[in-house]
Amino acid sequence: MKRSLRLLGTACTVLMSISTIAVAESVTFPMGAATPSETCGECHQVLFKEYALGVGSDNHSANHSIPATVSSAATAHATSKFTPLASGGDVEWCRSCHFAGSFNIPGKTEVGKQLPNVVNAGEISITCATCHLTPEGKVRSVRTSKNAPHASVVEPALQTSAVCAHCHVETTNTRIVGGQYQTYMEWREDFHKPGLGAQECQDCHMPRTLRKVAEDSDGAPVAVGRHLWTGGHSAQRLGGSLSLSIIQRDQDKAALSFSVTNIGAGHSVPTGTNARGVYLTVDVLDRQGVSRARKEWLFAPNFSARPDDKAFLEQDKKLSGYEGYAQTRADAQGAHEPPVRAGEERLLNWDPALAPGLYTVKARLRYTTDRFRTPVADDEKEMGSAALLITNK
Ligand code: HEC
Ligand code: HEC
Ligand code: HEC
Ligand code: HEC
Ligand code: HEC
Repeated sequence: MKRSLRLLGTACTVLMSISTIAVAESVTFPMGAATPSETCGECHQVLFKEYALGVGSDNHSANHSIPATVSSAATAHATSKFTPLASGGDVEWCRSCHFAGSFNIPGKTEVGKQLPNVVNAGEISITCATCHLTPEGKVRSVRTSKNAPHASVVEPALQTSAVCAHCHVETTNTRIVGGQYQTYMEWREDFHKPGLGAQECQDCHMPRTLRKVAEDSDGAPVAVGRHLWTGGHSAQRLGGSLSLSIIQRDQDKAALSFSVTNIGAGHSVPTGTNARGVYLTVDVLDRQGVSRARKEWLFAPNFSARPDDKAFLEQDKKLSGYEGYAQTRADAQGAHEPPVRAGEERLLNWDPALAPGLYTVKARLRYTTDRFRTPVADDEKEMGSAALLITNK
């Protein structure tokens, strides 16, 4: 077990001695959720590389770039501490998800968050221990093996959306359609209940491959979920989520419809923080390729329970702190389309005024992780495109 991981230069020497003991259940984690992930990474090396460096993914994010000679970037879980500090905000509340302590998994259909275990959370991001250590200090797992040097306990909920619900939803059980941080509720109400699919969050976000649970163990390879959690920073993940087509409603007129269908996500697109946005941009090109008409729609979550709208800007002046800042910037961008819900087909109509002639309609879907950043975020990703030749008489 001496094959230590030095990619981050933080390999823990104490562990060298622990790992040579290898007596059943001799390894404990007194620091709880503040146990550095490197500690687990000494023995679970491949999982650690996925989590800390994104090895095996196409994750890309400026926020998430920890110095690494790897083409991908660290997962958002590994770097979650940088985000709230950079944005200011109510640190205690932000911590409950971004630096979370150990927690109990709520019942399968409830949302529920325990108060953050701030003492244990430490100044580190979401760690292996955040998700895997029970408040009693046992390692929650899919299976237990006699090879494990630590006490583990089978937790079926580890393979269900309930474990993700601890953080991927606002703390109330009330669904806010079109609101931000609704991912778990969107999955439960729009995807799971109507039977659009049987997938839990893990089935899409932690695809399993056959591998050893710990590299130096005698245990045989088993199906282990990959620890990459690709989302808005992955072109691969975004690519299959929305389908786009163009319809000419009247074959002699520029009466156009755009069909945007959520075929790939088990929740709304975009989902999560209201900074996420999807743009649908349409250009009508004449035969010389010159744009004669252009239109753009934005799909995004609202900041609060009401739609973002410039009409509220005056009223927003009464708000203070983080809420004032965040509600104002959302309203300043004006009204927009709500996110496309799981299984929804959104039809958008547009009848541009055009001179008679032959045109090519080009439509494009792009994703941004930060619709408020100016100039436009450099991490925009193409999600799909379509083209149609039309005649306008
Ligand atoms: C965001 C929560 C989360 C974090 C962080 C996390 N895991 Fe996991 N882990 C899971 C889930 C969920 C599964 C089960 C996946 C499945 O198969 O559905 C899992 C599965 C595993 C398994 C296989 C379990 C078994 O019984 O065979 C191991 C081992 C493991 N994780 C180790 C780690 C290590 C090491 C780290 C840190 C580098 C880590 N995990 C970080 C959520 C997490
Ligand atoms: C000293 C080495 C070592 C350390 C440190 C270690 N593990 Fe393990 N772990 C193992 C071995 C060995 C297994 C069993 C592998 C097998 O079944 O082949 C295991 C199994 C697991 C399992 C599956 C449950 C089981 O009983 O097989 C999970 C989940 C897990 N570890 C998570 C963690 C997490 C989270 C940490 C850090 C908090 C951690 N481990 C630290 C060596 C270690
Ligand atoms: C302890 C809280 C917590 C738990 C539990 C948790 N997450 Fe997260 N997750 C976060 C936070 C916080 C972020 C955003 C971090 C950032 O960007 O700063 C995040 C980010 C993500 C992302 C976005 C990645 C990106 O690049 O934008 C995905 C996908 C994701 N989580 C999936 C899951 C899944 C699936 C589960 C359940 C197996 C899960 N998470 C469990 C807190 C959590
Ligand atoms: C059927 C597959 C599927 C299921 C089930 C699913 N997702 Fe996703 N998820 C996607 C796709 C595709 C995307 C990319 C498009 C988007 O951002 O909505 C995505 C994106 C995300 C993001 C990225 C948001 C961001 O800001 O970067 C998060 C977080 C996330 N999912 C969490 C979850 C959680 C939590 C669950 C379970 C409650 C879940 N997902 C269930 C397919 C799925
Ligand atoms: C209920 C859990 C939760 C709380 C509380 C929370 N966040 Fe997050 N945050 C998340 C999750 C989950 C994501 C992942 C992306 C998503 O869902 O879109 C995220 C993403 C973010 C992002 C975007 C990071 C990126 O990758 O672009 C920022 C910025 C952010 N959070 C800031 C904050 C701040 C500031 C606070 C406190 C005022 C806070 N968050 C509180 C769960 C939470």
